[in-house]
Amino acid sequence: MAHLALESASCTSGADGASCTSGAEKRIWYIWHLKVHLAELTTALRDYVGREMPLYLAERLTEHYRNKSRTTGDGPEIYLKREDLGHSGSHKMNNALAQAMIARRFGCSRVVVATGAGQHGVATAAACAKLSLECTVFMGTTDIEKQSSNVLSMKLLGAQREDAAKARGMATEVTLSIGPFKLSERTNKVRQVSSLEGTFQDASSEAIRNWVENLETTYYLSGTVVGPHPSPVMVREFQSVIGKETRKQAKRLWGGKPDVLVACVGSGSNALGLFHEFVGDEDVRLVGVEAAGLGLDSGKHSATLAVGDVGVYHGSMSYLLQDDQGQILRPHSIGVE
Ligand SMILES: Cc1ncc(COP(=O)(O)O)c(C=O)c1O
Repeated sequence: MAHLALESASCTSGADGASCTSGAEKRIWYIWHLKVHLAELTTALRDYVGREMPLYLAERLTEHYRNKSRTTGDGPEIYLKREDLGHSGSHKMNNALAQAMIARRFGCSRVVVATGAGQHGVATAAACAKLSLECTVFMGTTDIEKQSSNVLSMKLLGAQREDAAKARGMATEVTLSIGPFKLSERTNKVRQVSSLEGTFQDASSEAIRNWVENLETTYYLSGTVVGPHPSPVMVREFQSVIGKETRKQAKRLWGGKPDVLVACVGSGSNALGLFHEFVGDEDVRLVGVEAAGLGLDSGKHSATLAVGDVGVYHGSMSYLLQDDQGQILRPHSIGVE
C-alpha cells in the first residue's frame, strides 16, 4: 500500500522547493527500493530495452593487438559491452527508463530533458512513450543540425516537433504533426533552442528554466552524472546495471574478472555505470578516456576532468573548462560542439 500513497502524491511535492533536493531525494530512494518498482523496472529492462546486453568478444580487434605485440605474441582479449544493442541504441535508456518510472510514481505528467548528441533525448522519448508521459526535449539548433537522425527518432517516438525561434519567450512556435505516430493522450516535443550557440549548454539551461516554471506537473530527467545532488548518485545507481552484468558475464565467459575496464567519458554516465561495481576490486584497473581533440594545449578538446578546474555550474560544484573569470568555455567535439 505504501507505494500507492506515493503515486497519488502530486509531482509538486516540491513546489515548496524541497522537491529539487532533500525532499525528493528521500522519495526517490524510497521508490527505488520498493519491491514493486524494482520488479517493474527489471521486467521493462528485459522486455522493453532487451537486457542483458552481450559481452562480445571483438575477435578482429583482439587479433590486431595480438599481432602488434610480436615480442610476446600475446595481447589482451578485448570484449565490448554492447549497450548499443538496447532499445534506442545506447546506455542512456537504463537511466531514462528508471527515472521516468520514478516521475510517474511522483505523479508527474510531463518530463523535460536536455540533450546534446541526442541519445538521451531519444531514450527519454522512448521511456515516456512506454509510460504515457508527455516529453519535451530541449536541443540546441547546432546540435539538431548535426544529429538529425536522432531528432527524427525522437519525432517518430512521439508525435510532434515544436520549433521555437527563440528559446525564451517561445515567440514563434510551429507545431507539425507527423502522421500515424500521433498519440492522442500524450505528445513528445523537440524544442529547438537557438540562444547563444545552440548547443547542450543552452539546451540544459532552458530545460531547467522550463522545469522550475512547471514544478507542479513536470519532472526534469537528468541524463548523466553531473549537476546537483542527488542527480549524479541516482544516474550512477541506474546505470550500474552495466557493471553488474559485466561481472556476471566475465565469470561465465572466462571464470574471472576483467583486468582492465575502459570507458569513454563524455559526462561520465556509462563510465560510472561500468566502473561502480568494480571500485572495490583492487585487481581491476579502471580507465576513463576523455577526448583530447586537437591537443590538451590547443584549447580545443573536451578533457574536463584531465585539465578542468573546480567551479560552479547550474548551482553545483563540478569540474569545468572555464576562463580566469569562471566563464564556461565550450568543449570541442567532432560529434557535437
Ligand atoms: C552512445 C553514447 N555514449 C557515451 C556518451 C557520453 O555520455 P556519458 O559519458 O554520460 O556516458 C553519449 C552521450 O550522449 C552517448 O550518446
